[in-house]
Amino acid sequence: MSKPIVFSGAQPTGQLTLGNYLGALRQWTRMQEDHDCIFCVVDLHALTVRQDPAIFRERILDLAALYLACGIDPDKSVIFIQSHVPAHAELAWLLSTFTMMGELDRMTQFKDKARSHAHNVNAGLYTYPVLMAADILLYGTHRVPVGEDQKQHLELSRDVAVRFNGLHGPVFVVPEPLVTGGGAARIKDLQEPTKKMSKSVESDLAKVMILDTPDAILKKFKKAVTDGLGVISDDEANQPGVVNLLNIWRAARNASMEEALAHFSHNMYGKLKVETAEAVIALLDPVRNRFNELRSDPAELEGILNRGANQALERAEGMMKRVMTALGLPLHAGRFGGLGGK
Ligand code: TRP
Repeated sequence: MSKPIVFSGAQPTGQLTLGNYLGALRQWTRMQEDHDCIFCVVDLHALTVRQDPAIFRERILDLAALYLACGIDPDKSVIFIQSHVPAHAELAWLLSTFTMMGELDRMTQFKDKARSHAHNVNAGLYTYPVLMAADILLYGTHRVPVGEDQKQHLELSRDVAVRFNGLHGPVFVVPEPLVTGGGAARIKDLQEPTKKMSKSVESDLAKVMILDTPDAILKKFKKAVTDGLGVISDDEANQPGVVNLLNIWRAARNASMEEALAHFSHNMYGKLKVETAEAVIALLDPVRNRFNELRSDPAELEGILNRGANQALERAEGMMKRVMTALGLPLHAGRFGGLGGK
């Protein structure tokens, strides 16, 4: 039996947090062992908000380097940049004709963004979920690791796949969501520990970034908000700050809550903060070092991304051939001639 196909992606819009690492990227790297994984830097999606071209280009390469630094292995997985594979945009068009306006109108992320980006509610922002469906369906994806906030988009991908298949035969695999970021990986804001740690929150002290230096990490944990109770217990309602630190420590150390409570039972908050910082530093140090190495060797990074794009292209072209055939679009011999049978 071949391994189930996994596809996931993130937008190259700024740095990622410790929460993104523990909740998403680390899960991705773990899935490489028993899945056929495809990881994509979704740069086309990021164009739905205005980007400065020079900065944008660097951010795209930064995110690709970060995937690799976090442990995505180009010998096990396909890692590539979305815009390198034209079929994403092409399939998005085809799928948009199988997507109803009413469905897009119901997308809560669009409604939120239309409010927060009221000056630039472009059509791409509206059809964003169709491009995401194209990303996923293009590779015959079985499972899609996504955060809770993307579940509605995935549901739409499934509906579009089912609708297309109903009309034109079983072309697409109907993908299953694999919701990540649960359990110990549910990392909270260090200043307001009842909220999720988010890269978009203003305060630097509130979030640990994957590429933060050890000094910055230590400082942020030392200033983390706790409470006045003076005990270390797993009491989320009354001690959200303490429980967040315990969760971060155990996520970094792969430990259970019981182990964390036993380890810290006789300690004060100062020690909990410092030891959590140390565990996070040990976790992220190799990631930051590998990132810096990759970003100082453009040829190595380019080589990896070029190979990934070629692997993705080959798979994508096979699906485009099936989709176009199913729709009755004449195949261009110059494009598909070399690909062999159906
Ligand atoms: N919309 C996703 C996000 O903002 C990113 C994304 C684009 C994605 N295409 C995808 C995620 C395909 C999973 C699969 O997080």
